[in-house]
Amino acid sequence: MAVDRSVSFTGIKFENPFLLSSAPPTESESNITRAFEAGWGGVVTKTIGLHPVVNVYGAKAKFMRTTPDDGNVSMKKRPGAALHSSWNWELISDKTLEWWAPRIRRIKEAFPNKVLIASIMAGSGNDKELRHWQELAETAQGEGADGLELNFSCPHMDRRDMGSNIGKDQGLCSVVTEAVKEVAKVPVWCKLTPATADIVVEAAACFRGGADAIVSSNTFPSIPLIDPETLEFEINVDGLVSSGGLGGPAILPLALAKMAQLTKAFPDRSFSGIGGVSDFNQAASYFLLGCGTVQVCTAAMLDQAVGPNVIKRLLSGLDKFIEAHAKDGWKSIEDFRGIRRDRIVLQSEIRRPDTADYHSGYETVEGYAAPQPEVAVRV
Ligand SMILES: Cc1cc2nc3c(=O)[nH]c(=O)nc-3n(C[C@H](O)[C@H](O)[C@H](O)COP(=O)(O)O)c2cc1C
Repeated sequence: MAVDRSVSFTGIKFENPFLLSSAPPTESESNITRAFEAGWGGVVTKTIGLHPVVNVYGAKAKFMRTTPDDGNVSMKKRPGAALHSSWNWELISDKTLEWWAPRIRRIKEAFPNKVLIASIMAGSGNDKELRHWQELAETAQGEGADGLELNFSCPHMDRRDMGSNIGKDQGLCSVVTEAVKEVAKVPVWCKLTPATADIVVEAAACFRGGADAIVSSNTFPSIPLIDPETLEFEINVDGLVSSGGLGGPAILPLALAKMAQLTKAFPDRSFSGIGGVSDFNQAASYFLLGCGTVQVCTAAMLDQAVGPNVIKRLLSGLDKFIEAHAKDGWKSIEDFRGIRRDRIVLQSEIRRPDTADYHSGYETVEGYAAPQPEVAVRV
């Protein structure tokens, strides 16, 4: 029986559910063209803004590896080392909206059946910045973008009114989303930072503002290691470093925990999962938790810049997974999306060796009913 790889996500039809996320793999027309030719169902452009973008001196991103011999995590190249994570302090695209606009149009004209999402970012301090969000949205959709992804998640912007500083403030999340929705004719996705106490709060605010989907995770705030020989950070400028973002295999379980919180809190909403995906085994966890699409960055950066082998593995893995469950009647992602979401419960709901004597960690008080835990702790 033929596998149906297609999905409909926030009303957009995808030939397959795999996208390159907003990052270096999607920073140019040639990369996006190569990505579509390689088989990606969609791409999210590198984030586009209106303010001047000047990156730090030197390397903007590096990879950390570890070895089975010593377990060290380091940016130093060592034989036999396996990928641990990516680390970056890159800002959004340093190309202007005027540079991007004709390219969005040309890419859509060349690939009408592929999905092109424009990632956008402006500030949040005043009405002028809200108008910037609207200008970015109107231009991108006017040139043919199929959807908009609002970047509320970059953990290392040089401006305080941008990126994850919006994603950490539920008021700003809903105000900015609402401003974009006022002008949007295409679906609006909000990409949230994982660096908050309870991502459900910010997601709820985005939905109040009219968001069509939540995207999670961007990179996690982190710093590079200090080389014990030189006493210098493994990446630095003039000996100095600032907090950057961790991606790749190391963040997979962390990003899954954020996604589980989201899909459990809003089982009927749309979610796009990102974090540590390099083949279908990892993507499967996001689908089983309820995601409708999955995005990839680090693995693609390490595979000829746009991940031709990564997308091949994702597609063949998806086909094999569905075929292996043909006996259960599975034909497409909808047949298994979200079926493991309800397996995540409170710690106290996990079976104990002797259930009769277990009262959620509390002592029983003779003559009274067992005390109830006051707070329902999330994942
Ligand atoms: C060098 C680099 C640049 C990135 N730039 C952006 C960006 O401009 N906008 C954005 O929303 N996310 C950006 N990201 C985050 C990725 O899109 C993605 O959310 C993150 O890397 C986690 O996915 P991964 O584990 O597959 O790498 C960037 C990541 C890296 C490594």
